[in-house]
Amino acid sequence: MLEKANEYIRQNRIDEKEKQMFHVTPEVGWMNDPNGFSVYQGKAHLFYQFYPYKTEWGPMHWGHQVTEDLVKWEACPVAMAPDQDYDHIGCFSGSAVEADGKHVLLYTGVSQKDGKEIQNQCIAIGDGKTYEKWQDNPVIRGDIMPEKFDRKDFRDPKMWKKDGRYYCVAGNRYEENCGQVVLFSSADYKNWQYEKVLLRNDGKNGDMLECPDYLELNGYPVIICSPQNMHAEKYEFHNGHNSIYIIGNPEKEISDFAWEKKRSLDYGLDFYAPQTTELPDGRRIMIAWMKSWDARVMTKGQKWHGMMTLPRELEIKDGKIWQSPVKELEKYKKNPVIYKEQKISGPVSLEGIHGRTIDMTVEFTDEITGEFSIDVAHNEMYTTTFTYDGEKHLLEIDRTYSGVDADVVCTRKIEIADKNNAPKLHFIMDRYSVEVFINDGEQVASTVVPTPVEADQILFTSDKECVVNIQKYEIEI
Ligand code: FRU
Repeated sequence: MLEKANEYIRQNRIDEKEKQMFHVTPEVGWMNDPNGFSVYQGKAHLFYQFYPYKTEWGPMHWGHQVTEDLVKWEACPVAMAPDQDYDHIGCFSGSAVEADGKHVLLYTGVSQKDGKEIQNQCIAIGDGKTYEKWQDNPVIRGDIMPEKFDRKDFRDPKMWKKDGRYYCVAGNRYEENCGQVVLFSSADYKNWQYEKVLLRNDGKNGDMLECPDYLELNGYPVIICSPQNMHAEKYEFHNGHNSIYIIGNPEKEISDFAWEKKRSLDYGLDFYAPQTTELPDGRRIMIAWMKSWDARVMTKGQKWHGMMTLPRELEIKDGKIWQSPVKELEKYKKNPVIYKEQKISGPVSLEGIHGRTIDMTVEFTDEITGEFSIDVAHNEMYTTTFTYDGEKHLLEIDRTYSGVDADVVCTRKIEIADKNNAPKLHFIMDRYSVEVFINDGEQVASTVVPTPVEADQILFTSDKECVVNIQKYEIEI
């Protein structure tokens, strides 16, 4: 099965120019969650949920790419295919660590028993290129958990090592519709014991918590998870399936996470199932699937579907996670075009400000009271608009005219956290995506744009005159 997938890729690999330039995309076919984001022998590895044969979800394989700088990625052979009795329905999401000089993957094996689907955790051990599934899989069976813990919805183990012991969190369903995150530990990553529940839904926050991650950031314990079918609260928690984080208390038990402190990790239309890893230099980096389960905005005829966000560095400030694009992107920024104190009144296009693979920052010199919009991926047929309403402090994303094939949700409003100033907007655009880092990463919004790349104009429009500073670079890999 693995050889079949690799052969299929060899014969059907898509031209690089048809894909994203510097965001991870599949070589062909379908991609969802990031998996096994880890550093092994000095290089960062990223695996992902992968079905090479169609641009739709199917029996899950693990695709694999590697990078030295988190910006330029190189494809590796497929790491795993669903070819064992304990994972024949799919090799679902999981994680990786370097252990005893080996690269150890911990993933969910999905199988069927007596007509019922079950999910258990399994390992595969490799050398950064090829991986062998462990002979005694599964290593964590649902049966080691207390009774009312579901045996079917039990997946997405995220593993780490601390003080010589391995730990892992996994998503699980408790009784009918109550998502929870459960903790396990092990001396050797092969024999695991159940520890406790780290987080259990209070009823409003989704019926299953997918892809949990536990990390320590700037001295705080943090839990990240992706609740399915989450209840939206005004401008927060849209997309149906969301990704949130909760910062815990360093003085207390690690299971002391309060739902009232939950926050969105991203405010755009496309973001799910993030995973983090720690780099040797201590930076904590997050990457996520830049798509939502409900939105399908891929263009017909495109031979790949699904992509990752840019890896982002995380930091806690003022009780919140701030995100910034990895600093390695700097070395790929070329040809600066800079406008200082540029007056904008009505619609304006500026010489040199255009492109689809760019890094652009727009800063206002003063507060504004009117509406200011930035149209990107724009021409006479297409546009994607970011409009800031200075009175309401809302930033609206609108991709209604970006060239979508299906009638899906195309707008999102973001309440800007800092209401004292007009926001600084840092756009990172690849061929088919826009990520906006608002106020140096206090909030971020990620959105797929299916527009043909020829639409590369950028337009600024202000209903009342205002003054901005603009910096724009091309990104070239
Ligand atoms: C999240 C998810 C995971 C699962 C995987 C299957 O997007 O549903 O919970 O492991 O996708 O592809």
